[in-house]
Amino acid sequence: MAILKFKINRYNPDDERRGHYEQEYELDVPKGYTVLDCLNDIKWKIDGTLSYRRSCRSGICGSCAMTINGVNNLACETQALSLKSDTVTIEPLRGYPVVKDLVVSLDPIVRGLMAVRPYMINKTPPPTDQERFQSPEERDKLEGLYECILCGSCTSACPSFWADKEYLGPHAFLKAYRFVADSRDEDARAHLEALDDKHGLWRCHTIFNCVEACPKGLNPTKAIAELKKEIVKGKVG
Ligand code: SF4
Ligand code: FES
Repeated sequence: MAILKFKINRYNPDDERRGHYEQEYELDVPKGYTVLDCLNDIKWKIDGTLSYRRSCRSGICGSCAMTINGVNNLACETQALSLKSDTVTIEPLRGYPVVKDLVVSLDPIVRGLMAVRPYMINKTPPPTDQERFQSPEERDKLEGLYECILCGSCTSACPSFWADKEYLGPHAFLKAYRFVADSRDEDARAHLEALDDKHGLWRCHTIFNCVEACPKGLNPTKAIAELKKEIVKGKVG
């Protein structure tokens, strides 16, 4: 158990004159409490006006991504005492429009995602007696690609996105490659089309912030490199 001070970035669209400000709370934090548990205690016991997103509490839905002590992370997977600091600063993910307090608009995430057609395209009717076949080797190619929970931490950390709000973003590129690399998908071009654009792939400068920011340990930069190869192959082939 330790007493921690939480400095939380607040913003209320109904109080535009106040703008963004920091509010402090003190909390007794028991061992095993995540940052999400702390936010819940603050909201339920101290200040019901605090807004933040959460759903699964298990690192699966991506809702609780936020900037904790300067690092993008999932609040439900961050042990508060492991931060080794008496003060915990919590801000909304940077780069996205803030809706209220720690809640950001996910419109840029959805826009990037939709541009790459994030679903399997296969016009061949599936076999009637089994699922579409995929060998273990083909399935292995999807490791590190399908696990994305669309939390938006990577795109929030990307300087290309800070400079160009229409940049599709590393989350979208990772998702595109998830289908381009899938042996069951029949139309790689459909996923690649939007990437070869001034707001697409070529704006990535291989800074690796997305890799560092991903709470699931994924590597969008590697997927971007693979997609660049696919586009070049398509152009010269
Ligand atoms: S690649 Fe990682 S950081 Fe980016 S949206 Fe997916 S899970 Fe989140
Ligand atoms: S609440 Fe779902 S990932 Fe944290």
